[in-house]
Amino acid sequence: MRLSLVADFGYNNVFWQSQDITVEFLACRIYQNQSDDSKKRVEHRLESVSLNQLCDGDVVIKVHYSGVNYKDALAATGKGAILKSFPLNGGIDLAGVVESSTDSRFIAGDQVLVNGCGLGEVHDGGLAQFARVPADWVIKIPDGLSMKDCMTLGTAGFTAALAIHRMLENGQSPDKGPIVVTGASGGVGSLAVNMLSGLGYEVIAVSGRREFDDFLTELGASKVCSVEQLGLSERPLDKALFGGAIDNVGGKLLGSLLAHTNLWGNVASIGLADTHQLDTTVFPFILRGVSLLGVSSTNCPMPLRRTIWERLGQDYKPAKLSKILTEEVPLKDVSVVFEELLNRQRFGRTVVNCQ
Ligand SMILES: NC(=O)c1ccc[n+]([C@@H]2O[C@H](COP(=O)([O-])OP(=O)(O)OC[C@H]3O[C@@H](n4cnc5c(N)ncnc54)[C@H](OP(=O)(O)O)[C@@H]3O)[C@@H](O)[C@H]2O)c1
Repeated sequence: MRLSLVADFGYNNVFWQSQDITVEFLACRIYQNQSDDSKKRVEHRLESVSLNQLCDGDVVIKVHYSGVNYKDALAATGKGAILKSFPLNGGIDLAGVVESSTDSRFIAGDQVLVNGCGLGEVHDGGLAQFARVPADWVIKIPDGLSMKDCMTLGTAGFTAALAIHRMLENGQSPDKGPIVVTGASGGVGSLAVNMLSGLGYEVIAVSGRREFDDFLTELGASKVCSVEQLGLSERPLDKALFGGAIDNVGGKLLGSLLAHTNLWGNVASIGLADTHQLDTTVFPFILRGVSLLGVSSTNCPMPLRRTIWERLGQDYKPAKLSKILTEEVPLKDVSVVFEELLNRQRFGRTVVNCQ
């Protein structure tokens, strides 16, 4: 492969100059180091890398935007065991322009995105000025969305849409009752609230932070409350209060949501912001026909992934996407965002401008 890029000293402009794949560009690279006490420590740093250091792939993409997902923050700080090999560029999603491709499905100039598939987990990811990926992972930017829109959605929006898609396919309808969204001020949560509202659902947004009540109301929540204000009981099955739920939190809360879900409702399990544990019994499943739906963005089959992205440009598109984009940061400032996200100091979505 022959490429030609060079970064200036401030990494603000990458421009083509020579046919040299050793020329460097900026990336957020994650390492595993052995410390003095012989513990393995995961660290990230912003540094220069060259294309020949990246994992193999058919398509070289000039990354315009990436985003910061919870998983990116866990991966880069080592607070979660996300990476399967080291070193690796972080970033589980990207949108950009094809620079070159050895696969005939893509040509230079195509606007594309990649999310999941192992990007930023087993393969060099999107928090970099360039990426090189297998052509099978690449999706053309859908009609109705810009590259920046795609990364405002990012894996968070894709996953929220995947959850809703699975619920709809499994018979969810507004007449079953309101849908609870937990971790509502976060990326997945805020996008789920806005998408569900646009699809005609009554939405109860559950947030631990009262300062985002107005934000969530503006996104379409008919009620915004704390977990305590939901009025959940400790019983394994109790009064049906909700048509279903999208849960980002896990644990006792997820179990209680199941216990209060209406006949044949759906609860989608997306996240573990509190814990990976799940307390439940079989009663909601065998006495009410409630379904607990798994939602895994990383390994979502490509045909379904393409369908979800197409619909994100159409009927799943959140009407208030620009409100949910709370900040655009340059790649060099991404470290601060990781810490703030894990410390529950951010809301909505943060997009990373990689150029
Ligand atoms: N299954 C998948 O494929 C997939 C894909 C994407 C994300 N996820 C998971 O989904 C979750 C949300 O991801 P995200 O990118 O939206 O993250 P995010 O932007 O950081 O949002 C997470 C939200 O969860 C709530 N939260 C944080 N810590 C909490 C705690 N200790 N207890 C209870 N609530 C807490 C907060 O909302 P409030 O302050 O409003 O309560 C926070 O805004 C994460 O667990 C992530 O790993 C899974």
